[in-house]
Amino acid sequence: MDKIERITLPSDPKNMSVQFPECPRSGDQVVVFSHLGKAWEISGKPDHQVFSGLDGAVMRGNRIALTGINGAGKSTLLKVITGQTAPSEGEVTLGASVRFGYFSQYSSDVLNPNRSVFEEVSDRIPYASISSVKNILGSFQFTGDDSDKKISVLSGGEKSRVMLACMLAVPVNFLILDEPTNHLDIQSRESPARSVVSF
Ligand SMILES: Nc1ncnc2c1ncn2[C@@H]1O[C@H](COP(=O)(O)OP(=O)(O)O)[C@@H](O)[C@H]1O
Ligand SMILES: [Mg+2]
Repeated sequence: MDKIERITLPSDPKNMSVQFPECPRSGDQVVVFSHLGKAWEISGKPDHQVFSGLDGAVMRGNRIALTGINGAGKSTLLKVITGQTAPSEGEVTLGASVRFGYFSQYSSDVLNPNRSVFEEVSDRIPYASISSVKNILGSFQFTGDDSDKKISVLSGGEKSRVMLACMLAVPVNFLILDEPTNHLDIQSRESPARSVVSF
C-alpha cells in the first residue's frame, strides 16, 4: 500500500447538469411489436437468430429495464426499435408523436469520428445560436478548446458525454439508453440517473 501513489479526489467535483428540453407528449402507445424477430446475416445468409415472435408494447410512462447476459440480444432489440437495423420478421411501430433519443452502447453508431464535438451537437440543432450550443456543451463539461476536439480522439467517457449532449439537445419523449453509464465517472453516472427519475 505504501508504494501506491495516492490519488486525492477533488473536494468539489464538477457535476454534470442535465436538463431535458420540453417535448410534446406522445400517444399512449409508444412502441408496439408484433411477431418481431431478428436474425443477423453472417456471410450473406441470415443465420444468426437473436430473437423471434416478440409481441408486446411500451406504454407512455413505462420505465423498462432490459436485462440479460452478454449476447442475449438487448442491443439488437434496441437497434431494431430505433431503425438502425431492419427486423427480419414481424414489425415494430412507433406511436403517435413519439420522438426518441437513442444512446447506443457503441458511440460509433451515432457519432461521426471525423467531426468535432461542437459540430456533432450543433448539427442536431441547426437553428440554435453558437452560445446556446456552447451552453449545452458546458453542461456536459466541454469547455473552451474541448469542443473543437475531434470525436476520434475522445476517451470513452467523453464520447458518452457527447452522445448524451446530442440526445438531450433536441426535445425527446422516449429515451432509449443502451448501457449509458459504462464509461462515465461516479458523479456523471448519478446525474442522468437522477434526471431520468425526476423526468
Ligand atoms: N451487426 C451484427 N452482425 C452480426 N451479428 C451481430 C451484430 N450485432 C450483434 N450480433 C450478434 O447478435 C447477438 C446479440 O448481440 P447484442 O444484441 O449485442 O447482445 P447484448 O446487447 O444483449 O449483449 C450476439 O451473438 C452478437 O454477436
Ligand atoms: Mg449490448
